[in-house]
Amino acid sequence: MNEVLALIEVKKQELEQLPLLKYMGNESIEPLKRLAWIPCLAPFAMSFGDLNKFVLRQEPTNNKIQQIINIHTYEDDHHWQWFLEDIKKLGFDHSIPFSNSLKFMWSHETHKTRLVCHKIGLLYTFNTDPILRLAISEAIEATGHVILYRTAQIAKELTESRKQKYRYFGQSHFDVETGHPMGTENVEEFIASLELSKETKNKAFELVEAVFGAFTEMFHECMEYIINYSLEQPYTKPAKKKHELVM
Ligand SMILES: [Fe+2]
Repeated sequence: MNEVLALIEVKKQELEQLPLLKYMGNESIEPLKRLAWIPCLAPFAMSFGDLNKFVLRQEPTNNKIQQIINIHTYEDDHHWQWFLEDIKKLGFDHSIPFSNSLKFMWSHETHKTRLVCHKIGLLYTFNTDPILRLAISEAIEATGHVILYRTAQIAKELTESRKQKYRYFGQSHFDVETGHPMGTENVEEFIASLELSKETKNKAFELVEAVFGAFTEMFHECMEYIINYSLEQPYTKPAKKKHELVM
């Protein structure tokens, strides 16, 4: 499994280089603007709980690897509540007609974000070997580490100026995601020691690439969102650009 974990490390570094991550790390931009993509994250943040509860978690199981995955799903299945809390605190809790909020959630502008959980669900469903499922789970967690590390830096600045704590975007979420849930002590050694056949390893590489691919597209979409939407009217569809109006 070591080689799969090594690939995940490489993919994390690639993620760091994406325009969104660079933008978030640019301290010359005011903190809230660096989080202006948050509304675009909503379809993912809200679906992720269901992905954990109803897809990634497989119970009952006697398989130690699946048990490790399950423990992580219990950790992650309720973080959408923190997301809603932070949406309010950060000023994104605008009042709009219900139909408009649904339109936004299912708009073209948020489709890559919306598809992340679907794509992962399919990869997971069609790959039943627990080792492959673990590779998917490890890749998901790794993307979380990358983005939450950046949001925690920004949230820290906002906490200082606004005297507010942010449970989804702040340090505490990063700490939870990078820590060890109860019952997973020494889990890293166990995971690293897993022996994979050549065929399984290659499949695991493919799955890691696919998971990171889905998140990469999501982060590109979030960056597009920053460019096209305003902080003041976060859920209003941008006016069509000139070249899109040409029939
Ligand atoms: Fe989480």
